[in-house]
Amino acid sequence: MCGCGQGYWGWGHRAPSPMLLLSLLLSAAPFGLLGEETRQVSLEVIPGWLGNPQNLLHIRAVGTNSTLHYVWSSLGPPAVVLVATNTPHSTLSVNWSRLLSPEPDGGLMVLPKDSIQFSSALVFTRLLEFDGTNMSNTAADPPGKPYPPYSLAEFSWNNITDSLDPATLSATFQGRPIHDPTRAFANGSLAFRVQAFSRSGRPAQPPRLLHTADTCQLEVALVGASPQGNCSLFGLEVATLGQGPDCPSIQEQHSIDDEYAPAIFQLDQLLWSSLPPGFMQWRPVAYSQKQGGRESALPCHASPLHPTLTYPIPQSPIVRAFFGPQNNFCAFNLTFGASTGPGYWDQHYLSWSMLVGVGPPPMDALSPLVLGIMAVALGAPGLILLGGGLVLLLRHKQYSEYQSIN
Ligand SMILES: *[C@@H]1O[C@H](CO)[C@@H](O)[C@H](O)[C@H]1NC(C)=O
Ligand SMILES: *[C@@H]1O[C@H](CO)[C@@H](O)[C@H](O)[C@H]1NC(C)=O
Ligand SMILES: *[C@@H]1O[C@H](CO)[C@@H](O)[C@H](O)[C@H]1NC(C)=O
Ligand SMILES: *[C@@H]1O[C@H](CO)[C@@H](O)[C@H](O)[C@H]1NC(C)=O
Ligand SMILES: *[C@@H]1O[C@H](CO)[C@@H](O)[C@H](O)[C@H]1NC(C)=O
Ligand SMILES: *[C@@H]1O[C@H](CO)[C@@H](O)[C@H](O)[C@H]1NC(C)=O
Ligand SMILES: *[C@@H]1O[C@H](CO)[C@@H](O)[C@H](O)[C@H]1NC(C)=O
Repeated sequence: MCGCGQGYWGWGHRAPSPMLLLSLLLSAAPFGLLGEETRQVSLEVIPGWLGNPQNLLHIRAVGTNSTLHYVWSSLGPPAVVLVATNTPHSTLSVNWSRLLSPEPDGGLMVLPKDSIQFSSALVFTRLLEFDGTNMSNTAADPPGKPYPPYSLAEFSWNNITDSLDPATLSATFQGRPIHDPTRAFANGSLAFRVQAFSRSGRPAQPPRLLHTADTCQLEVALVGASPQGNCSLFGLEVATLGQGPDCPSIQEQHSIDDEYAPAIFQLDQLLWSSLPPGFMQWRPVAYSQKQGGRESALPCHASPLHPTLTYPIPQSPIVRAFFGPQNNFCAFNLTFGASTGPGYWDQHYLSWSMLVGVGPPPMDALSPLVLGIMAVALGAPGLILLGGGLVLLLRHKQYSEYQSIN
């Protein structure tokens, strides 16, 4: 039986060492002031072709010398193509007849082509489900016996136009399997909420990832779907373009600061090492309640990236349309939760968020609270000495005044 275990915190992460603490303290200060770079962000749903109900969302973020294009689509598995150009005037060109054809190459272009500085893509290929019974090792890969996965290419998605919110620069793709013989999604859905930003900041909901105008946030939420077992753990298979023969790697960054994501001292990122670089960044945590917090935090484990030459993954027409025929895809699995602690079974709710962007990934400076605590902690002996000195000085003065009066 699942879900009766006690919650526990800081899974898989050692407490920060004094050296890490010191090096963070020394390195944190210069990152304390974040650039105030802003962008003019617009969201546009590109109208389908001949009433074809396909979702194609173009996020265009224009800066003084550059434009970022994020093209999100649920044509095939949900995917995003991100492109950075060195001009504020670059545009997206879509040829629907080509995009919907069996060979969509060239159906999606960013023009002028020679302004492109960076391009890559992410494809969310499958929703995974595992039987987590008796699995105590959260980092096990896979975290239990796999149930049949859901191919996200075989989902039907809502019309995103209805969810487009220009005020928050967000839109939501909400889908369920086209064929659902067990009616697992009769009352459920999988949602991909996409949000862009015109300046840097932090959302109110944990894990409160620091975003900049160069990033776009994705929140994936599985809500109300019936699990296939009493102890189901869910996962997401993510594919990206490889770089030459190699796959990008996943890096882990450690911090002593958990003010924005309680008990999470780690930030994971996938880096596309190019110039400028691109990245996908997330905290290794998911939440089993809408009001994410410490009580509903689940560990999130990322497997290493593997080339997908050996097994087929669902292809994304928009990725093919932009990049042409490619076979150097790499994929990895994200899995959420452990058989103890909170889980999807609590409320049939699971959410996880990440950022995708271009340029150096946002770095968390130490929060003002932690800096304050450290200043007090490190400064205390100094203050005591100083205070003691002052008292002596004053006493001496009083004494001498007393003497002089006398
Ligand atoms: C999506 O919704 C918008 C507005 O509600 C509508 O104009 C558009 O035709 C819809 N698209 C499809 C493919 O149904
Ligand atoms: C943007 O362009 C202006 C004028 O061409 C230049 O002075 C500035 O350095 C550029 N900024 C960046 C970040 O490239
Ligand atoms: C779109 O692609 C088709 C071929 O698939 C081509 O015939 C047509 O001219 C293209 N349209 C434009 C506007 O480029
Ligand atoms: C779980 O562990 C218990 C006791 O260790 C064992 O009896 C049971 O068969 C196991 N269940 C599964 C699904 O492995
Ligand atoms: C869906 O919800 C309705 C009402 O809340 C409930 O009666 C029904 O059993 C649910 N169906 C599934 C498959 O969970
Ligand atoms: C799942 O839970 C139900 C009710 O708690 C129980 O009857 C059933 O045996 C459990 N199934 C498994 C595989 O543990
Ligand atoms: C993800 O997990 C599924 C199910 O265990 C497995 O079939 C697939 O190969 C895994 N993919 C990667 C990239 O590890």
